Amino acid sequence: MTEVVSGMARLVCVSNRITLPRKSAAPGGLAVGVLSALKRTGGLWLGWGGEVSEHEPGEPELLVRDGVTYATVELCQKDFDNYYNGYANGVLWPLFHYFLKGMRYSIEQRDAYENVNHSFARQLLPLLQPQDLIWVHDYHLIPLGRQLRALGVRRPLGFFLHIPFPNIEMLRVLPPYADLLRDLTHYDVVGFQTQNDLAAFHSGIEQVFGAEAIRGDGRIRIGDRVLRAEVFPIGVDVNSVQSDAVASMSSDGVRRMYESLMGRQLMMGVDRLDYSKGLVERFSAYEHFLEMYPQNSGRLTYLQIAPLSRSDVRAYVDIRQSLEQAAGRTNGRFADTDWTPIRYLNRNFPHATLMGFLRSANVGIVTPLRDGMNLVAKEFVAAQNQEDPGVLILSTLAGAARELTAALLVNPYDTHAVGHAIQTALAMPLPERRERHDAMLQVIRRNDIAAWSRRFVEALEKADTGDARVRAVGGS
Ligand code: F6P
Repeated sequence: MTEVVSGMARLVCVSNRITLPRKSAAPGGLAVGVLSALKRTGGLWLGWGGEVSEHEPGEPELLVRDGVTYATVELCQKDFDNYYNGYANGVLWPLFHYFLKGMRYSIEQRDAYENVNHSFARQLLPLLQPQDLIWVHDYHLIPLGRQLRALGVRRPLGFFLHIPFPNIEMLRVLPPYADLLRDLTHYDVVGFQTQNDLAAFHSGIEQVFGAEAIRGDGRIRIGDRVLRAEVFPIGVDVNSVQSDAVASMSSDGVRRMYESLMGRQLMMGVDRLDYSKGLVERFSAYEHFLEMYPQNSGRLTYLQIAPLSRSDVRAYVDIRQSLEQAAGRTNGRFADTDWTPIRYLNRNFPHATLMGFLRSANVGIVTPLRDGMNLVAKEFVAAQNQEDPGVLILSTLAGAARELTAALLVNPYDTHAVGHAIQTALAMPLPERRERHDAMLQVIRRNDIAAWSRRFVEALEKADTGDARVRAVGGS
């Protein structure tokens, strides 16, 4: 059982989806981050369990484990279609990742987004206690702060965006963009992954509220309210990734994979199957690599694990087809009777097994076309054997590139350059591999997952004592 830090205000996390104990973790960094925060402090986590129900949501279902109360809310088919697949993943996700082609706006979906947020607020309200700090996660729940305020909640409210925030020139494409920005100002603390995202948020605030709303100390003043907007780059639990990676090297799953390589080198990618992850470009970079460096034929296996995601959304159906074609083409062109260049799997694995796979890899390839952070990049670094580490190829368009500057940084659209980077990684001498790895390990240790949640919760606590919500700032 995890030791819970007592004597603090209770932490309440709200996210679209929750991970129930003993269920396999929901994909993405959010679940890992929220759990790590709650395990430290204890508290409440409210979110959707992932199943579509036949009826309108009733009361949340409660489960208490190790000091954490899990409150599962339901989504009916209509809300799943219009709120989750529709507004969240068909409008906000593509827009925030700068993929306008995939964006489809409709009032019906906008209303569903508003209604589901209202329903989350209504279901959370009776569970709240007077000393709670409330931390809302991600783009699905931007209006939740306003909804909670309207229901009379006066406790500190924080919001953290796990994905990129678009510059005003992009955000303006969304018809109710000003409402979205106003909604964010109902929080006391608004957190972003990188300085770029914060600057983009400032560009929106300037547009809607005027440049004078942004104060010199980074706080934002709207009327008589002051909020903090800051950068909190999410990290990983370095020790637990390391120990999982080491332990699972002797597990059946990792041993079977490793032995099947028959002494070949391994390049590894792990991504939710999403068009933002740059998988089509990555497959094409690998094809270029095989063309440009034929001496590697039969010597490198590329294992891409890509669990299916949001499979009812059109853009995800399309990307899946493109990837199947691309993998088939490369394998058809280059495979031999005893070698398959790309092993492409749409299934998920237990987290510890994935860490073992990453540790076995000579090259970790993380080349999203845009990504808020990308925790796989940090996990790859944490999972390596320090004495003989693999090389990370990382997209400059991932938030993680702001911190992992010792990776081989590439533009994911430049598929020839990525092909060359694969060759550079394979040929890199041990001293350079160690030097790069040491530098990155230091960075991810300094800013691990505990530091991330601690910093955010401290900012919320300050909002509590400073009572920024009601203070008339008058130049103070
Ligand atoms: O990090 C972005 C995010 O949408 C998270 O909010 C979510 O936990 C994760 O990706 C997985 O997405 P989904 O819940 O749609 O499968």
